[in-house]
Amino acid sequence: MNVLLAGGAGYIGSHTCVELIGAGHTVVIADNYSNSCPVAIERVEEITGVSIPHYEADVCDPEAVEKIFSENEIDAVIHFAGLKAVGESCEKPVMYYRNNIDSTLTLLEVMKRHNVNRFIFSSSATVYGTPETVPLVETMPTGSPTNPYGWTKLMMEQILSDTAKANPEMSIVILRYFNPIGAHKSGRIGEDPNGIPNNLMPYITQVAAGRLPQLGVFGDDYPTHDGTGVRDYIHVVDLAKGHVKAIEYSAGHKGTEIVNLGTGTGYSVLDIVKAFERVNHIEIPYVIKPRRPGDIAECFANAEKAEKVLGWKAELGLDEMCYDAWNWQSHNVNGYK
Ligand code: NAD
Ligand code: UD1
Repeated sequence: MNVLLAGGAGYIGSHTCVELIGAGHTVVIADNYSNSCPVAIERVEEITGVSIPHYEADVCDPEAVEKIFSENEIDAVIHFAGLKAVGESCEKPVMYYRNNIDSTLTLLEVMKRHNVNRFIFSSSATVYGTPETVPLVETMPTGSPTNPYGWTKLMMEQILSDTAKANPEMSIVILRYFNPIGAHKSGRIGEDPNGIPNNLMPYITQVAAGRLPQLGVFGDDYPTHDGTGVRDYIHVVDLAKGHVKAIEYSAGHKGTEIVNLGTGTGYSVLDIVKAFERVNHIEIPYVIKPRRPGDIAECFANAEKAEKVLGWKAELGLDEMCYDAWNWQSHNVNGYK
């Protein structure tokens, strides 16, 4: 199968590219490098030994997307090309709505012209809002996201399911990611955030690398086993394999399927700090800070549907996530730069 990866140079896209090629598929990448760089694609080529057709293109631009579909036989699309920084989305909501929604609409329009009917979408557990109970099941009502980034995901889920309803030939698989961390075992590709990281694991690895002095733990008074926030961390290679299963599933599917990609296990911030220290033999200095606005106490998946429907289950544990995250950061102290 030939798969277009919109945003394929990014963190999750680059890992998915490796797994798709490993499973015998071919890929084409479209990325405007707004949050990545072409070096990531060179590294994927190095890992896989395969040359990857790639376009520097904004997938909001219909002409640029049309050119890619005209020059390649595309069977399916995976849409990773979103802006994802929660804080920035509050400061620049129009930019987030424009990029995230326009990219989706443009891809759907060009796909329709070329009779391409399979679409896999990167959604997020953020669409559940503030859950009343955990674990989170796909049938639970979606919540009210606390920020424009989350709203773009919820709106796109609606746009996609409406599109599938209107076109009976279409297969839409909406993947709700929990918290991807870690990196490919080669240490050649990994997460490379711009500026000071917002997310926990890249912050920890940058403290370990000496780029940041200490971790701030946002709140120790949540109703969790140690008072710090609990999340469902998933190894990015497991997440990438979930996309391979979703692509293969979509060949025989019509309609909209919503699937959580998580492990089903929650770990607290301090569980992560302790596991990182133990696995990598590095101390992570931290201070307790106030709660971060918009954060919830606990969020983890019920991961049964992914196993039942896609035949996929996360296999890698917390130790591998911590080891691989540090293996990437320690060999690439300044990321791809
Ligand atoms: P990322 O920023 O590393 O990757 C996104 C890629 O898309 C980048 O390479 C960026 O340059 C590209 N891009 C953005 N807008 C584009 C456009 N208009 N045209 C072409 N390319 C564009 O992020 P990621 O962590 O790999 O996330 C991928 C997707 O998964 C995003 O949609 C994100 O919202 C979603 N997601 C991520 C997480 C997470 O924790 N990383 C969690 C839930 C959902
Ligand atoms: C965040 C976003 C979510 C998005 C996801 C992936 C918010 C409120 N949520 O999820 O919408 O889909 O990233 O991009 O931003 N923590 C610290 N110190 C830090 C960083 C984080 O203590 O420096 C804590 C947080 O309070 C939380 C946990 O670590 O309890 C995980 O945080 P993070 O990695 O940012 O992910 P989420 O908040 O789950």
